[in-house]
Amino acid sequence: MWSILVIVISSILITCASIPTTPPVWPSAFSVDFVEDIFFAVVKYSHNNGTWYYDFPNGRARYDHLRGQKNNFCGGQKLSDNDPKAPCSLLFTNHSNMYVIYPEAKTCCILCGEKEGCTVLKPTWLSNSSYTGDKVFEGKKCHGWAEPGHIFTDELYVTDENVLCQYHEKSFVGDLIHTLTFNQASYKVQQPDTSIFDIPSYCKDVCPRPYPNHVTHKRSIL
Ligand SMILES: *[C@@H]1O[C@H](CO)[C@@H](O)[C@H](O)[C@H]1NC(C)=O
Ligand SMILES: *[C@@H]1O[C@H](CO)[C@@H](O)[C@H](O)[C@H]1NC(C)=O
Ligand SMILES: *[C@@H]1O[C@H](CO)[C@@H](O)[C@H](O)[C@H]1NC(C)=O
Repeated sequence: MWSILVIVISSILITCASIPTTPPVWPSAFSVDFVEDIFFAVVKYSHNNGTWYYDFPNGRARYDHLRGQKNNFCGGQKLSDNDPKAPCSLLFTNHSNMYVIYPEAKTCCILCGEKEGCTVLKPTWLSNSSYTGDKVFEGKKCHGWAEPGHIFTDELYVTDENVLCQYHEKSFVGDLIHTLTFNQASYKVQQPDTSIFDIPSYCKDVCPRPYPNHVTHKRSIL
């Protein structure tokens, strides 16, 4: 009898211990590689690799979407019309402009600035999110956290050690699912090399369709 009670109590304790209680906070600087997928109504729309570089104390970040990308902030700006799925970087700088860059074509334009809300996410951007359950990525148990109900649900999965597992964005309008599945081994908590954030010399012009004018429905910049 006692032993059964002990087993029941200890399994309750173990279960409780595995439920995280506070939303994840990002380290102030890191980099990580990912595989990106976009589905519209279960039809695969794009599939590509990429890397995030994040440096909050210096107010900068770069999101690289590699070959195959169909990022909606990259396209439609006449930067690479004959090769629209070429690698594209979104570069955020400190209290200044946000750039869209096609490094192969050496084309670039200024999409938006601080006024339009184009700033780097804060490490605490998930501070009002709720725990949504666990999923396994790369054999590791990851905890899901989501912002409460909008048209979009932004959900981030992290391990107990706060390693990024997956970013999952679902839109109830248009039936879109956008995921970045992180390569956990590539996650590095350190300031990326400063040169990552250099603004190419060919970045001079404002985009023909600056944000937010051409984006008909809000989608995460991630
Ligand atoms: C992503 O990178 C991996 C490793 O370099 C490579 O094997 C794979 O083909 C790439 N996937 C795409 C969609 O480019
Ligand atoms: C970026 O902005 C922050 C806050 O305004 C400031 O403290 C910091 O020194 C800036 N960094 C650079 C590299 O300009
Ligand atoms: C969290 O909610 C509070 C209160 O509604 C709000 O002031 C704050 O800006 C929110 N934080 C984030 C990161 O959205």
